[in-house]
Amino acid sequence: MRQFCIQTAMLLCVAVVTILPGRAQKFDNLAQTPPMGWNSWNKFACDGINEKVIREVADAMAASGMQQAGYQYIVIDDCWQIGRDSAGNIITDPVKFPNGIKALADYIHSKGLKFGIYTCAGTKTCAGRPASLGYEYEDARQYAAWGVDYLKEDWCNTLQGQNAEASYTLMRDALYKAGRPIVFSLCEWGSNKPSLWAKDIGHLWRSCGDIGNSWSYMATDNGNAYGGSVLGNLDLQRGLEKYAGPGHWNDPDMLEIGNGVLTTEEERSHFSLWCMLAAPLLAGNDLRAMSVETRAILTNKNIIALDQDPLGRQGYEESYEQELEVFVKPLQGGDTAVCLFNRGDQEKKLNLDWRKHHIASGHAIRDLWKNETAGTTDMPFRATIGRHQVIVLRLSR
Ligand code: GLA
Repeated sequence: MRQFCIQTAMLLCVAVVTILPGRAQKFDNLAQTPPMGWNSWNKFACDGINEKVIREVADAMAASGMQQAGYQYIVIDDCWQIGRDSAGNIITDPVKFPNGIKALADYIHSKGLKFGIYTCAGTKTCAGRPASLGYEYEDARQYAAWGVDYLKEDWCNTLQGQNAEASYTLMRDALYKAGRPIVFSLCEWGSNKPSLWAKDIGHLWRSCGDIGNSWSYMATDNGNAYGGSVLGNLDLQRGLEKYAGPGHWNDPDMLEIGNGVLTTEEERSHFSLWCMLAAPLLAGNDLRAMSVETRAILTNKNIIALDQDPLGRQGYEESYEQELEVFVKPLQGGDTAVCLFNRGDQEKKLNLDWRKHHIASGHAIRDLWKNETAGTTDMPFRATIGRHQVIVLRLSR
C-alpha cells in the first residue's frame, strides 16, 4: 500500500510538473482587430530617437486626429537600450531618455495612448544593442513594471540553430508570467514561416523582410525574395490570408506613408492595400510634421474600417491580369471590399465584368476614396485608373 502511495504521489508530481509549463499562454482578447499605432524605426531609425521626439510624437498622435482615427500604440524601436547591470537588468540610454522609460510610458498613458517597446531574441539587437537571449524573464518583468503594452521582438544575432518557435514561446511565457497584458509582435521576417506556428504565441508576426522607403524594389536574402518596398512586401503576402484572424495577424511591416519618396497616389495605394490585407497599421512617419495629404490618407475612416472590420478576414488576390490586380476582402454583415489596383505605369480604362470576378449582381457600390455611390454590380464597372493607383469599393446588398 505504502509503495502504491509513493508511486501515485510521484506520478502526480510528474503530471503537475508537465502540466504547469503548458499553462503559460499568450494573452487572449488582445489585438482582436489589427493593432494600430506608430513605430519610430522607419523615420528615426537608431540615432533619431529620444525622449523629446517620442513625447512630441505622442502629442501629435493626439492632436492630429490619428488617435481619434484609432491609432493607439506608440512604439519605440531599436536603440533605447545601452547595457545591463550586474543583476542582469537592462539599462536605458540615459542621454536619449534622461527620465527613463517608466516616465515616458506614464506620459503616453496620460494621453490615453498605449506604449510599446522593442527587443530581440538574439545576443544583440539588429543595431547591436543588448538583447533578450537568456534574459527573457528579467526583461518581461521589467516591461510589465514600466507599463509596456506592446512588445516587438526581433531576430538578429540569434545563435546558430536557435529555434524560432521555441524562442518566441519562451518570451510569450515570460510575458504571461509577468502578468501584464502585452501585445506580442514577432519580427523574424517570415524566415521560419511563422504563419504556420505563431498563432498561439504572438498577436502578429512579420511575414516578410523589412519594408524600405520605395515603391517596387525587391530585396533578396540568400536568393529568396525578401521585401524591401511596398510592392516587394505586398507580393510576399500571397496565400497567407488563411492564417490571419482576430488576435493573430500577418504583418507585412510598417507604413512608409509620409516619408517623402512615394507619390500621393502610391501612398493611397500602400494604405488601401495594407487595409485590404488586415495588416497592422503602424505609421512610420514624423507625425509632428505631416502634410495635409498624408494625414488625410492615414486617417481615412472608410479605408480604416476595412482594416478594422470585426470579421478579421485578410483580403486576398482574386485575379491579376495585365497589371490589374484585384483584391477581395469579405466583411462582417455580408459586405465585400474590392480593391482594383493598377500596378502598371500607364493609365487604364476599366470595363470590369463582375461575374468574371465571381461577384453577383444586386450589390450597391460605394467608392470609398471618393466617398460616393458608384452604381451597382448589375452592370460592368467602368472607370479610369491612373498608374500605381487603386480604386477601393465597398459592395453591399
Ligand atoms: C530589423 C527589423 C526592423 C527594425 C530594425 C531595428 O531590421 O526588421 O523592423 O526593428 O531591425 O534595428
